[in-house]
Amino acid sequence: MQRVSHHLLLCATPTKAKCCDSALGAQTWNELKSVVRELNLENTERPEGIVLRSKADCLRVCVRGPILLVWPDGIWYAEVSPDRVKRIIEQHIIGHQPIEEWILKRTPFETSTGALSGEI
Ligand code: FES
Repeated sequence: MQRVSHHLLLCATPTKAKCCDSALGAQTWNELKSVVRELNLENTERPEGIVLRSKADCLRVCVRGPILLVWPDGIWYAEVSPDRVKRIIEQHIIGHQPIEEWILKRTPFETSTGALSGEI
């Protein structure tokens, strides 16, 4: 099994661009991919697990995008422009310190047993 530390879902280029301009979303997605690679977060030897990233069509927020959802933390960031990506990854994903002033909302993930599985 592959251990996973986080899954990043970005509404970047939705079919119906409601939350942000598609060009801005595409730039943010490209920056996210670049920073994840640059910081070696897809390395399967990483003790905490790899960081997955997915481009979502719409995360049903539809305002103040691009919207970034960080699992398993259940933290939603608004207005994730390319210049914010590196700080979110360094401070939140690596440093475990979410950036409070950029958080739109929190939806903590809980299972019926209260346990989370970090493996796929
Ligand atoms: S269009 Fe981005 S969250 Fe819905």
